[in-house]
Amino acid sequence: MNMKIIPKHTAVIMDGNGRWATKSGMSRVKGHKQGVYALLELIDLAIEFNLPCVSLYAFSTENWKRPEKEVKAIFFLLTEFFNTYLKSILDKDIRILHSGDKRQIYPDVVKKINKAVELSETNRGLTVNLCIDYGGKSELVRAFNRLFCKLQKQEIQEINEQEIEKELYTYPLPPVDLLIRTGGEKRLSNFLLWQSAYAELYFTDTFWPDFGKDEFINALDWFAHRQRRFGSV
Ligand code: FPP
Repeated sequence: MNMKIIPKHTAVIMDGNGRWATKSGMSRVKGHKQGVYALLELIDLAIEFNLPCVSLYAFSTENWKRPEKEVKAIFFLLTEFFNTYLKSILDKDIRILHSGDKRQIYPDVVKKINKAVELSETNRGLTVNLCIDYGGKSELVRAFNRLFCKLQKQEIQEINEQEIEKELYTYPLPPVDLLIRTGGEKRLSNFLLWQSAYAELYFTDTFWPDFGKDEFINALDWFAHRQRRFGSV
């Protein structure tokens, strides 16, 4: 693998948990559970390959439309994830960030997220940005509202790209270089819309629980061979 060109920011849409489970006659929740193992493996691989930052789409603003049982199960898995792995996350010098709207998330889960963010604040290894109740459009609406207030208070004179970026959940993370989507669909599904303006898009049919080291190396290798012109020639 060409390790010279690594993405500064890798975003992952971990799709296909449900189909992975139902194809083997298991409940969708089993698929999400297996998805957490794939996520843990990805974190270790990101450290092994010296990636500075990964953003993971764990729960979108649209995922509330799923049956209550599945929504609760995903948040239960998140809670379990912090209960079981926070210590090893901190030991690995990982910095946890959260992108998304905390107002609807169950208060006990918000507490776990806040604690992980707080305790890992000074860590300088891999940044893991967990996107939970995240939506690209609502992130931009929030940013524009905040900018409107700033304009009214004359804290800023105009709205420009830099000012918008400062109001995103992901600030000051760099733009997404590589966006990986598993599970066969070829769309962004409202993920990091602004941040992915020039991202290279890697789509694979593999369901998220089956996404392992070989496929991750493929994605990174593919990225390293892209010619990135950013609108230039
Ligand atoms: C997409 O698969 C997956 C999700 C909406 C949830 C992803 C959540 C996890 C991996 C667990 C979260 C836990 C942590 C620790 C972040 P899908 O259900 O849309 O699959 P399908 O397209 O086959 O139905």
